Parts: sequence; structure tokens; C-alpha cells
Amino acid sequence: MRYIMFPILISSMVSCASTPTANPSPAITHTNDGALAQIDQGKKLYVQYCAGCHGNGGEGTAKAPPVVGAGAFPLVAATDAKRNVPFHTAADVFTWTVKHMPADAPGSLSTEQYLAIFAFDLTANGVKLSAPLDAAKAAAIVLHP
Ligand code: HEC
Repeated sequence: MRYIMFPILISSMVSCASTPTANPSPAITHTNDGALAQIDQGKKLYVQYCAGCHGNGGEGTAKAPPVVGAGAFPLVAATDAKRNVPFHTAADVFTWTVKHMPADAPGSLSTEQYLAIFAFDLTANGVKLSAPLDAAKAAAIVLHP
């Protein structure tokens, strides 16, 4: 995934005035406390519930596709995949995931927990959240127009 995939987000959410440093940490410098707490919670939940199949860095494993990086969240899944809905926005990914993930216990987490995992995952994909993620914000994050 690249920044270019998030035109709405970039224009409306990246409003940090600080000058980038030589080695910037965008998730920290551009994110408020509420979003940071959500991202931090999501990281822990991801490790606990998702990393076993999707990999510690979300890079994917033999068991499951990547959820971080250039190959994450394609518009249409591979032909042998169970996923049969296109991923236009982050909300599409979210809705599908709540119903189907974790694959060994679908729907077993709270909405708050799924949102936290997505806040973490989107951040890992280069999206900058200036406030905690909610359903409306997820719908505005366009992955594939
Ligand atoms: C037991 C293994 C397993 C666990 C645990 C698991 N997943 Fe998955 N996940 C899969 C498999 C297998 C697929 C591919 C499903 C298909 O065929 O479309 C998948 C697909 C996905 C997709 C869609 C990817 C795509 O490109 O279509 C997302 C998003 C996702 N998982 C998120 C999560 C999240 C978030 C968690 C933790 C809450 C999680 N998964 C936990 C096995 C797992």
C-alpha cells in the first residue's frame, strides 16, 4: 500500500505542523494521544489474535495473506480465497474481517477491539490517524477507488 491510495485521508487528516526530522516516526509525530492509545492496544491485540497466521509484521505466512505492505488488502482476493467482497475502503475490510476473523474464532472480539487492531494495521500501512479510528473514518479511507 502506498500513500497515493489514501487521497482523502492525506488531505483531511495530515495537519501536523511539525517539521519532519531526518528519521521521522510518522505514527508518533502526527498522532494524538487518543489515537496512540488505540494503536498501542491494537498492536497487542494483533499479536495475540492475528499474528499467528498473518505474521508478526503482518507480512503473511503460508497460513494467511499479508495485512501489511504492498500486497495487503487487494481489491479482489486470489481466486481460491473465501473473501468474495471487493475492498474499496478500509470499512469494507473492517466489515469483512469482523465477520470472518480470526479464522479460527470469527467475530469473537468486540467492535472496539477490531477497531483498535485496524488502527494499528492501517498505521503499519502508512496511514496517519489524527484521532481514534471509528466506522465513519474507516469508510473515508479509500484503498481502491
Ligand atoms: C487461524 C488463522 C487466522 C487467524 C488467527 C487470523 N486470520 Fe485473517 N485470514 C486467514 C486466512 C486463511 C485468510 C484468507 C481467507 C480467504 O480465503 O479469503 C485471512 C484473511 C484475512 C483478511 C483479508 C485479506 C485479503 O487480502 O483478502 C484480513 C483483513 C484478515 N484476515 C484479518 C485478520 C485479523 C485482523 C485477525 C485477528 C483478529 C486475523 N485475520 C486472524 C487466517 C487467519
